[in-house]
Amino acid sequence: MTTFEQSAARLVAVDDLGASQVAVVEKTPHGALAVGLSAGKPFAVSNRCRHLFASLGKGHVTDDGCLQCPSHAALYDVGTGKMVRGPQGAFKPVAGAVKATTGARSLKTFPVELRDGVIWLVD
Ligand code: FES
Repeated sequence: MTTFEQSAARLVAVDDLGASQVAVVEKTPHGALAVGLSAGKPFAVSNRCRHLFASLGKGHVTDDGCLQCPSHAALYDVGTGKMVRGPQGAFKPVAGAVKATTGARSLKTFPVELRDGVIWLVD
C-alpha cells in the first residue's frame, strides 16, 4: 500500500459511474456522498438535495457539468456546491423561492483526486 492509499479513502472507480457520471458512496468519513466526474474532473458533494432531500448521487451530470437532482431537476455547481437552478416541474413556479431559501445553503464539497481510474477522498 502506498503512502497515498494510506492517507486517502477510495470512493469509486470511474468505470462504475455509468452514463449518469455520478454515484452514491454510502460509507465515507463524511457519511453518504454524491461522487462523480464533471468535465473530466472528479467531485464529491453531500448527497441530499436542499429541496426535498432526494439522493443526488442517483441524479446525473448534465452536458454543462452540473449535478441534476433526480426528483425535480434542480441543478448544482459541483465545484461550489451552490444550487444554480431551483426545482422544475410542478415546483417550477417556486423555483426562485426555493433557490433563495433552502437552496441558499450550498452542498458541502470535499477534496478528491482522480488516480488510476479511481476517485479518492483526500482530506
Ligand atoms: S428534491 Fe431535488 S429538486 Fe426537489
